[in-house]
Amino acid sequence: MHGDGETELAESTVGSGTELAESTVGSGTELAESTVGSGTELAESTIDGRTELAGSTVPTEWWADAVVYQVYVRSFADSDADGVGDLAGVRSRLGYLELLGVDALWLSPVYPSPGVDHGYDVSDPRDIDPLFGTLDDFDGLVADARRHGLRVIVDIVPNHTSDQHEWFRAAISAAPGSPERARYHFRSGDTPPNNWQSVFGGPAWSRVAPSDEWYLHLFSPGQPDLNWANPEVREDLEKTLRFWCDRGVDGVRIDVAHGMAKPDGLPDDRRQPGWTVLSEDTPDPRWDADDVHEVHRAIRSVLDRYPHRMAIGEVIVRDDERWAAYLRPDELHLAFHFGLLTSPFDAVELRTVIDGTLAAAGDVPAVWTIANHDNPRPATRYGSLDRARAMALVMLALPGTAYLYNGEELGLPDVDLPESVRVDPGGRDGCRVPMPWEGPGPGYGFTAGTPWLPLPASYGDLTAADQLEDPASTLSLYRYALELRKTHPAFRGREVEWFGAPAGCLAFRRVGSTLVCALNASERPVPLPPGDVLLTSGPLTDCGDLPANTAAWLA
Ligand code: GLC
Repeated sequence: MHGDGETELAESTVGSGTELAESTVGSGTELAESTVGSGTELAESTIDGRTELAGSTVPTEWWADAVVYQVYVRSFADSDADGVGDLAGVRSRLGYLELLGVDALWLSPVYPSPGVDHGYDVSDPRDIDPLFGTLDDFDGLVADARRHGLRVIVDIVPNHTSDQHEWFRAAISAAPGSPERARYHFRSGDTPPNNWQSVFGGPAWSRVAPSDEWYLHLFSPGQPDLNWANPEVREDLEKTLRFWCDRGVDGVRIDVAHGMAKPDGLPDDRRQPGWTVLSEDTPDPRWDADDVHEVHRAIRSVLDRYPHRMAIGEVIVRDDERWAAYLRPDELHLAFHFGLLTSPFDAVELRTVIDGTLAAAGDVPAVWTIANHDNPRPATRYGSLDRARAMALVMLALPGTAYLYNGEELGLPDVDLPESVRVDPGGRDGCRVPMPWEGPGPGYGFTAGTPWLPLPASYGDLTAADQLEDPASTLSLYRYALELRKTHPAFRGREVEWFGAPAGCLAFRRVGSTLVCALNASERPVPLPPGDVLLTSGPLTDCGDLPANTAAWLA
């Protein structure tokens, strides 16, 4: 089918956008009836065992085609009116997640933390910050999630701790050369030990006092990097993993999974401007050191002792071969690739990243995502909500697993916040504004207090409650897409093959199945490929063509 599909595209006939909306999206209520109540069944049939991918006879672990929903806890739902989301808030909204149709939730860090990097600065990895609740609340959440047919993934941060972690506090009160300091990277000298920059800007080295040693922090000064050459550091991570697995979590998301190991001698970063030997291929010495794979083997050896537990890594490595090394059989089960997330809304570039991601993942399920708490939201990044909706259908048609970010299903845009309320050292506040659930501002059902970041009035038009009632809403689109993905027999096949498509468009089919996804990223309507339309991201034209900035599923 490669390259010969343009005639087929032109031959197709489909109904109008209105018919489509009526016939496939249906009303929120119908969807609700068809999906609610399935949680218990799901829990019984799959929570403790393997699932079978539609159409496959090979038993596959649950994560192979799961849709996972990232809950950025502080922005999800606030139960106690302090303006910050919490675990009880998440528990109160599990019915919504079941209704949406996701398989699992990934909780952003909820551990005790000063909050310099909003939880990614962990001061105790085996407890819950009072801001979010208690360990009992966590256990209750896991139990409730089970009842709703949802699995739970927690975020693990092995690269660094908070500067308020007892280890770091002990380190700064101890002498240079002490075992306490050997858990981190301390170095003496009048100037920083090398030229490394932190991800948030500025040198990656700080001192607690001018006369003291320097310590390494690849993120903020409040996030000192751990020394992974120290066996104590590994033992502590293993203890943390066992702690959460024993509490019943189904998986872990490994933060900065390409970090941890540091190259011998901490050599200068030669990619910095001013160096004479500058080349695109000059490696960044801060990341992807060979010894990092030892860490992933250690993580895997713990998880392998618990049935059906999964580790997914945030692996940011440019070279696909090096990236794939994190997915060797004794390392991570899954890894984010981020090609789709960082691709512009351009058919050629999207096709390249889709092929590249699938090729890099090989036999391991690919992980697709178009949104997370670190990047501008799709409706903003792609330039319009129409495009974001189209990209949702592209992502959810691809073989593998998909990760959604809370609010993506409402089509929320980023918020242009005034400097006075911004708090993130990485400047990512705009995509972290709390969820608008229902009713009037300023809290829109997120909080009865003052939200930690203000929700704009425009979020009042995008509440979950209103969108549930509207068959044309972005929430209804996601619900219908997830329902189809789960129940329609066309969603099978691990590879994609491409149709020829008009300039600026792409169309692919899941190999071994009838599902076709067509995206029009050009500026004018194009004919659809042949097949019955299952779902479109927006109305078709009066003559049944696919408008610009729209995607369709056909089978
Ligand atoms: C990851 C997280 C990001 C955090 C950083 C440091 O990239 O996604 O939010 O700032 O790690 O922990």
